[in-house]
Amino acid sequence: MEQPPVVYALEPAHALAGGLVERCGFAAGTIEQRRFPDGESYVRLAGDVDGRTVVLVATLDHPDEHVPALVLAAATCRELGARRVVLVAPYLPYMRQDRRFRDGEAIAARVFVTLLSSYVDALVTVAPHLHRIADLSDVCPVPSFVASADGAIAAWISRNIAAPILVGPDEESAQWVSAVAEGCSAPWTCLRKERSGDRRVAIERPVGFSLQGRTPVLVDDIVSTATTMAHAVRLLREDGASAPVCVAIHALFAEGAAEALVEAGAGRIVTCDTVAHATNAITVLPGLAEAVGRAACGSRLPPRSG
Ligand code: R5P
Repeated sequence: MEQPPVVYALEPAHALAGGLVERCGFAAGTIEQRRFPDGESYVRLAGDVDGRTVVLVATLDHPDEHVPALVLAAATCRELGARRVVLVAPYLPYMRQDRRFRDGEAIAARVFVTLLSSYVDALVTVAPHLHRIADLSDVCPVPSFVASADGAIAAWISRNIAAPILVGPDEESAQWVSAVAEGCSAPWTCLRKERSGDRRVAIERPVGFSLQGRTPVLVDDIVSTATTMAHAVRLLREDGASAPVCVAIHALFAEGAAEALVEAGAGRIVTCDTVAHATNAITVLPGLAEAVGRAACGSRLPPRSG
């Protein structure tokens, strides 16, 4: 009888990996992982992966720190005979640089997904930042499985906020703001944003913008420097709004970001658990487990030959 897929967590993805083991009924594997004194990564897989489907769970915020260990683990799974390797990266980094904005720039989204794909047979992620790339499969050479956070966020808003109005900080956020709004039967609108630098944005209200006397809930996919969210908070507060609730999927929170949001006048700050952070209050685990189940056991993924 075929053995169940085995889940290995790369540091620090142990909480999500444990949740996946429980929900999917998979086996739990152990990776020994450490740094050599010069900072290089050491990885050792405990247990036998020969002939098995391996699910590698990796937290990929700060990707430049985490990717070498992931590559070592994935390549080792293949060398040791894994039937297939499924990468679960709840946050998929590098996706915002999806175009050559200036001559000579790397189109990081395409390069990074191609790099990961060369080590694994399938990729599972949550709400990848897709703006100028319509679908992850357009840049991902291996089968990709995307879990949505929209339903979990909508359920949290329904339970916690009376009379909300959802506000996207820029036009590209319309895709997830509209979906979340539908899920919690709330009105929604989006601001207009122009970015001119890592920490420089200009945000404006669209014509006819109104909060309709409701509690504003800003919803974005990523908080990095929090420049976007903080500017949006200030704009809403200028209109006399109550402290906006700030909801994000991926809690990157670069240094000073949380403080900047509080200083701008944000109310409660809430994120999903794709990246571990003190603001995590919404779990994506049910949707992620469903996507991992399809990736690890589904028919879209034939065993590798050779
Ligand atoms: C933009 O394209 C994204 O959806 C986010 O609005 C952006 O990444 C947030 O970045 P920051 O927190 O640095 O303004």
